[in-house]
Amino acid sequence: MLVHPRLRTGADRATPTPHEPRHLAAALRLHRRASEAATAGITISDCRLPDLPLIYANPAFSHMTGYTIAEVIGRNCRFLQGGDTAQPGLVTLRAALRAGGDCAVLLRNHRKDGTPFWNELTMAPVRDEAGTLTHYIGIQTEVTARVHAEEALHHANAELERRVAARTAALVAAQYETLDRLARAAESRDDDTGQHTARVGATSAALARELGWPAEEADRLGRAAVLHDVGKIGIPDGVLLKPGPLTPAEFAVMRTHTTGGAAILAGSEHALLRLAEAIALGHHERWDGTGYPQGLVGAAIPLAGRIVAVADVFDALTHARPYKVAWPVADALAEIARQAGRQFDPAVVAAFLALRRRDAPPSASPRRRRRR
Ligand SMILES: Cc1cc2nc3c(=O)[nH]c(=O)nc-3n(C[C@H](O)[C@H](O)[C@H](O)COP(=O)(O)O)c2cc1C
Repeated sequence: MLVHPRLRTGADRATPTPHEPRHLAAALRLHRRASEAATAGITISDCRLPDLPLIYANPAFSHMTGYTIAEVIGRNCRFLQGGDTAQPGLVTLRAALRAGGDCAVLLRNHRKDGTPFWNELTMAPVRDEAGTLTHYIGIQTEVTARVHAEEALHHANAELERRVAARTAALVAAQYETLDRLARAAESRDDDTGQHTARVGATSAALARELGWPAEEADRLGRAAVLHDVGKIGIPDGVLLKPGPLTPAEFAVMRTHTTGGAAILAGSEHALLRLAEAIALGHHERWDGTGYPQGLVGAAIPLAGRIVAVADVFDALTHARPYKVAWPVADALAEIARQAGRQFDPAVVAAFLALRRRDAPPSASPRRRRRR
């Protein structure tokens, strides 16, 4: 056994060679004292004997487990497992034993009195001079306090995340409610039921889902769509509530509900409001370029605006207005289909018709006066 010269005792120093018996005895005594002084548990198991019994355990192991050294010698270490035989650390440990390799694992062991404790085990194979595997050495450090601290931290983090999620959800709900009420404030001028914006929002979201939008984005579109007519808040009563046909000048004023709505929503750093701005501005554009306010053509019109345009017109057609009766749903659907490629994006129309074939939208109800 080789020992670093600095570790030799006075008696050792007198010896010319480390293989001299007196030196070996001193080295063994030192090793024994060292492992007895160690604060980590040290065990040696003999793999030449049946069932890998312990042939050595130091006092720290005894102290940690509550078993006397005499009680553990000759036993396989599995007596520490309690009922925890499937824990991940053991799976790794068994694989290392099968492979004759080493491992470092975290184990949930049990003391003699049954109390569990956490143990970091570093295990390594020991080979003889011929390279044959003869023993395993295990160095075991109790880390119960650390694992409990980590668990407490984990629980505290989970609780914190739960609270943040709950607060965030409440904040988002408050934002949505505020937007809905803003939409209702605008709508209350020409529709005291306040149902048009809600229906257009729901239909737009369903339409977006039909077009393959992810559910979250489709839901956001539905939320933003309720604000499509928010600009009507700035249209004078004389125009907005006029029972008869509008003059060209009045119609020009009416058309400013798009730019006016966009102006109310402009400059936000929130994606939802930016989307609402694009919808307010774009929902009267037409696929063929004859819409307003910008006369955009085809795909130049933001898709959100193209979707809301179909939802808005269908809802307007199927509900009574001061200047018209509610159309039968079949007629309204035929009109939407007829406008594919003219007023509406053909792809959005196709999705709308497919959607209608599957799920019928809310039924038509008589409406108070309303002007588009
Ligand atoms: C050096 C050494 C230390 C070990 N220490 C532990 C231990 O602290 N806890 C434990 O459950 N198993 C320990 N084992 C593993 C068991 O003794 C046993 O060999 C292993 O779990 C496979 O048997 P099993 O499939 O019946 O569980 C140790 C094995 C060796 C070789």
